[in-house]
Amino acid sequence: MTAIKKKKAVKTDSFSLEIEAKSANESFARMAVAAFVARLDPTVSELADIKTALSEAVTNAIVHGYRNSRGVGRIRIKGAVYEGGKVVLEVKDKGCGMADVELCLRPLYTGAPEEERSGMGFTVMESFCDSLRVRSAPGKGTTVVLTKRLGGGAE
Ligand SMILES: Nc1ncnc2c1ncn2[C@@H]1O[C@H](COP(=O)(O)OP(=O)(O)O)[C@@H](O)[C@H]1O
Ligand SMILES: [Mg+2]
Repeated sequence: MTAIKKKKAVKTDSFSLEIEAKSANESFARMAVAAFVARLDPTVSELADIKTALSEAVTNAIVHGYRNSRGVGRIRIKGAVYEGGKVVLEVKDKGCGMADVELCLRPLYTGAPEEERSGMGFTVMESFCDSLRVRSAPGKGTTVVLTKRLGGGAE
């Protein structure tokens, strides 16, 4: 009998980046993450997916998380890559948080209908990545973790 044990993927590189929660910084964060991921030789569509998902998470931190913070607030973006091509991105804010995460994750739900938001941000993140995890507490903030495997889903 052979015991097959799944090996834990080895982290090959990582970064941490902190930005002020301003719309002007969203493209900076998106380009920085794209440059980090580009070295793993992703396909054009894999890179586009990661940029789009990251952009949705950062935009949410700015427009929802720090909605009532009068321009004060910081967003921490962490990234890690693992052997085999797995990319993990974490977007963390210390803003207002969500009372009901499950509700917020629903397609078309928006907490800001008067702003004509689509309510599709989380759905986009979910469909453009392999997994989406959200931790949030009212008054404490929100952490969104996006995982994507490059190279056709192989680990
Ligand atoms: N970082 C965050 N902090 C607080 N609330 C958030 C955050 N991200 C998302 N939300 C809540 O989840 C809802 C759904 O987000 P999303 O799917 O991106 O749709 P939209 O941004 O178009 O409203 C938001 O309207 C908001 O109420
Ligand atoms: Mg959104």
